[in-house]
Amino acid sequence: MASVPSLASTVQQRLAEGLSAALPEAGSADPLLRRSDRADFQANGILALAKRLKGNPRELATKVVEAIGSDGVLKEIEVSGPGFLNITVSDAAIIETLAARAADDRLGVPFNPDAGTTVIDYAQPNVAKEMHVGHLRSAVIGAAMVEILEFTGETVVRRHHIGDWGTQFGMLIQYLIEHPHELDHKVEGADVEVSGEEAMSNLNRLYKASRTLFDSDEDFKTRARARVVQLQAGDEETLALWQRFVDESKIYFYSVFEKLDMDIRDPDIVGESGYNDMLQETCRLLEESGVAVRSEGALCVFFDDVKGPDGNPTPLIVQKSDGGFGYAATDLSAIRDRVQNLKASTLLYVVDARQSLHFKMVFETARRAGWLNDEVKAVQLAFGTVLGKDGKPFKTREGETVRLVDLLDEAIERATAVVEEKKEKAGLSDDEVAENGRYVGIGAVKYADLSTSAVRDYKFDLDQMVSLNGDTSVYLQYAYARIQSIKRNVTDAQPTAHAELELAPAERALALHLDQFGATVTEAAEEYAPHKLAAYLYQLASHLTTFYDQCPVMKAETRELKENRLFLVDLTARTLHRGMALLGIRTPERL
Ligand code: ARG
Repeated sequence: MASVPSLASTVQQRLAEGLSAALPEAGSADPLLRRSDRADFQANGILALAKRLKGNPRELATKVVEAIGSDGVLKEIEVSGPGFLNITVSDAAIIETLAARAADDRLGVPFNPDAGTTVIDYAQPNVAKEMHVGHLRSAVIGAAMVEILEFTGETVVRRHHIGDWGTQFGMLIQYLIEHPHELDHKVEGADVEVSGEEAMSNLNRLYKASRTLFDSDEDFKTRARARVVQLQAGDEETLALWQRFVDESKIYFYSVFEKLDMDIRDPDIVGESGYNDMLQETCRLLEESGVAVRSEGALCVFFDDVKGPDGNPTPLIVQKSDGGFGYAATDLSAIRDRVQNLKASTLLYVVDARQSLHFKMVFETARRAGWLNDEVKAVQLAFGTVLGKDGKPFKTREGETVRLVDLLDEAIERATAVVEEKKEKAGLSDDEVAENGRYVGIGAVKYADLSTSAVRDYKFDLDQMVSLNGDTSVYLQYAYARIQSIKRNVTDAQPTAHAELELAPAERALALHLDQFGATVTEAAEEYAPHKLAAYLYQLASHLTTFYDQCPVMKAETRELKENRLFLVDLTARTLHRGMALLGIRTPERL
């Protein structure tokens, strides 16, 4: 379903081509076109070009103005300042270009000609533990990147690197052996589904009980430690019990992901345990190549620029002196698997910024070992901390980590109240109110997460998130629903582009912003920056608001005007719908 090339080109691209043609000596230099207040666009590229050609920028700019042909795109061009070009494009070119893109399912968003395979590591909670806001961020940002990358033609392999291995399982399993019915479900039967809530409360109870015993009973501690050894040795009974913990946790994870309206698939859940068979080999390869060395019994990798507070180098420990493998060995093995078996050209990790040093060391180690190279790159899409309203890391009043499910439920509750208020006006049934409440509440949480640059911390403020005004998903969802309502109400006209019409300022502004959609998606994909798409959509909805104030659709003076305005709002709705879907947010038809 490739786009026809002409559909993919935007007004801005057509303009850029015209400028390049007018100045052959520019070669492939970027004219650096930007949207501008003074005209539609400003071209800033001539300054750099003049420097390179050792010419006078104003003279060069004047030469462009004289030589540029009129291919129908250009309306006015003038030199300004030291050698900028202010450019106004023709109304007809804007509408014609948008019409071509509206005819395309992909809205003219280009495929990345250099698309490869990205293995993305995201949504990675830990077994037998409650999910918290940090897991929310990874899931939400990761899911958006999956959609955005796939839309630009990238092959995406999802990996949920859940924490399903480690010494804590010795304690849990030993406890379960000694208290065999603790994980049994109250109601037994093939058709009875255990709720995520119930699964988690089982695990919590078990975790607390075994922890207490572990801390107070030396004999239990010894038995628990022996159990870890059996787990690592692959003892069958031990593994079967470990599997029960994993399965119970998955019931819980899936219930949260479902609440998040997120599609997580079982084969993509490859947790830490999935790399067990590779750990020995990973260590052997690192040691034989000299990348890792033995130091006080442990297998370590050293870095010139990583030092502890005492000034001594802090190594990456691949194998502990007792023979145990940790987080680093697993991540290094996962890299080998993803590069060699999954044929990744990019490894993308959506993980908390507080793990940046770990990834820096892991990536550098993999580079020294030759697993990463010029053909395969690894990137951490690091995200900041979620803060409470007080600006401190998000905690309950009792100082505990806030449970993700509680937050989501509260968001849905607040959103449902907002939707309920407009119930009559929008003509919604009770079921629709409940459904929209979920879409608005979950959308609000996702949007708040996605609308600031990932690496920044942000405040979790539900009042702000479900507000109808401002940079929120509800504002965008209303913009979409309002267009859909207009389209339902106009029965005497169809969205039709009329390139012969003169555009009002609010129409031009909306249309020129629509022109930027493809470039925005490309940028969000290239820079792993979903917030750029969110910002674009917010601006789109803002342009739409101004447009409504100044350009009536239903009461447009002529039929052509009405059709053309319908065309503009319809393309806006499709762009909002597509863009929001890329962010994982629903756009209800009525709100
Ligand atoms: N489970 C980890 C946590 O909750 C995140 C895993 C990140 N991915 C990785 N390959 N290390 O912090």
